[in-house]
Amino acid sequence: MPLPLIRDAAMADLAALELCYPGVDHAGRIRGADGLAVRYLVIESGGEVTGFGRLFLAAPLSGGAGLPPPRVSNLNVRPDLRGRGLGSALVREMERLARAAGHGVLHIGVSRENERALALYRRLGYDPLAEQPEGTGTRVYLVKRLA
Ligand SMILES: CC(C)(COP(=O)(O)OP(=O)(O)OC[C@H]1O[C@@H](n2cnc3c(N)ncnc32)[C@H](O)[C@@H]1OP(=O)(O)O)[C@@H](O)C(=O)NCCC(=O)NCCS
Repeated sequence: MPLPLIRDAAMADLAALELCYPGVDHAGRIRGADGLAVRYLVIESGGEVTGFGRLFLAAPLSGGAGLPPPRVSNLNVRPDLRGRGLGSALVREMERLARAAGHGVLHIGVSRENERALALYRRLGYDPLAEQPEGTGTRVYLVKRLA
């Protein structure tokens, strides 16, 4: 299998993005990504878009999900292709982009109940920074120092 390609999402990816995760405003996210402060990235493997994630390199105009930039958000891999390294590849590319933009850290937030994603981030070198109640659960904020 050729190496996966990670690039900015385009409107032509909408159908594939819906297959990865239906029911979110992918078009709005694409429009909201300016390629600088906000990136909406897709990973392609086998010629198909198989996952996505947002990278906030500077604070968005509204919100912030309790974490300062730079931060990873909305990471998702198509359900039938999870556990093959695609999510890790997306996070590593975001680390590279954050570093290239001059940042020394990268943040990620995840529900404590999402044990597999939390385990993945810990394995990738992210350390817990803070916790915050979220609905009936808890959100964990993690940080990694970028070498
Ligand atoms: C979390 C996620 C993006 C990881 O992507 P991935 O391509 O499966 O990740 P990788 O293959 O690089 O790493 C696999 C690891 O991811 C974690 N993982 C989390 N959810 C998983 C799932 N449903 N299936 C497989 N692995 C999962 C596990 O720790 C797994 O390690 P393991 O094989 O030892 O159990 C993906 O599983 C996903 O889209 N999950 C649903 C959405 C989500 O929880 N997003 C994170 C929000 S912060």
